[in-house]
Amino acid sequence: MLSVLLLPLLFHACHGFLVDTPCPAPAPCQCDSSIHCERRHVISVPAAATSTSPKTFYALYLNGNSIKIIPKEAFKGYKISRLDLSHNPVTSLDPEAFSGLEDSLLELDLENTSLDFMPDSLATLTSLRRLNVKNNPIKSLPADIMAALGGSLLR
Ligand SMILES: *[C@@H]1O[C@H](CO)[C@@H](O)[C@H](O)[C@H]1NC(C)=O
Repeated sequence: MLSVLLLPLLFHACHGFLVDTPCPAPAPCQCDSSIHCERRHVISVPAAATSTSPKTFYALYLNGNSIKIIPKEAFKGYKISRLDLSHNPVTSLDPEAFSGLEDSLLELDLENTSLDFMPDSLATLTSLRRLNVKNNPIKSLPADIMAALGGSLLR
């Protein structure tokens, strides 16, 4: 009788174990089809675990944290098509911050991030289809970014 009850449990446990892919971001982040680091008092972009074949996630959510500085290669090791950095007091964005995401990033949310400039390097995100820069002190955007994004630009 006991084995009848235990078998489905064991099956579930093993099944769960097998399908779980490791979350590239450390706690307090959690993963499902996306990497969730939003509203967790995070003060810097969590370094991705190094992997020879990183899994692709839908998005990396870092919105609503206290991130001020986004250094060079901050997203190295993440494979994502959407990046949400909205509602962070970002004042410094390295020209090579998004290095590694050039071919994959489709959407970038920088709403309410205190940025007063946009680095030209944003133009290296050749797959980018949506850029949200609402509610920032940004004065101007590089012409090539404007041209590439056209109507999908939110500002
Ligand atoms: C803007 O972001 C800050 C955190 O940097 C947050 O405290 C504030 O509530 C946000 N403002 C809006 C309108 O969401």
